[in-house]
Amino acid sequence: MLLNKNLYLLLVMILGISSTGFAQDGNVIDGEKLTANCQGCHGIPGFRTAYPKVYSVPKLGGQSELYLANALKAYRSGNRTHPGMRAIAAALSDADIADLAAYYSENKNKIVSNGKDAE
Ligand code: HEC
Repeated sequence: MLLNKNLYLLLVMILGISSTGFAQDGNVIDGEKLTANCQGCHGIPGFRTAYPKVYSVPKLGGQSELYLANALKAYRSGNRTHPGMRAIAAALSDADIADLAAYYSENKNKIVSNGKDAE
């Protein structure tokens, strides 16, 4: 029984680690360093609305990592056409995109939209 319990704990630890981002490509810490270029539009901690009348900026925090990475790649490739995001995504490497996607998908409560969320 003791052995089974230890195996169970080990399994929980392994699953826990893999679900916090280590097993994925993106690195949350590196992603955070890249967000200086995103925060002005995408996020202000504490749900403060800075520019309510400006173009609706989608909320990133808590989105799925895959969705965020795919969105950034689509701006970079031109499949998504928003000019501002295209210019920003053009400067991002695959590693940058993975890190940013990891960061925003992990930070549900810290990063919010500063405009109305897009429908
Ligand atoms: C100048 C303001 C601005 C900056 C800076 C900016 N964004 Fe955006 N972002 C937008 C707007 C506006 C949209 C919605 C564009 C559209 O309608 O396609 C958007 C869309 C996105 C989306 C798609 C969200 C969705 O729900 O589909 C992602 C992902 C994203 N931005 C990530 C980033 C990242 C990462 C950075 C920093 C490297 C960044 N953005 C910097 C304004 C900005």
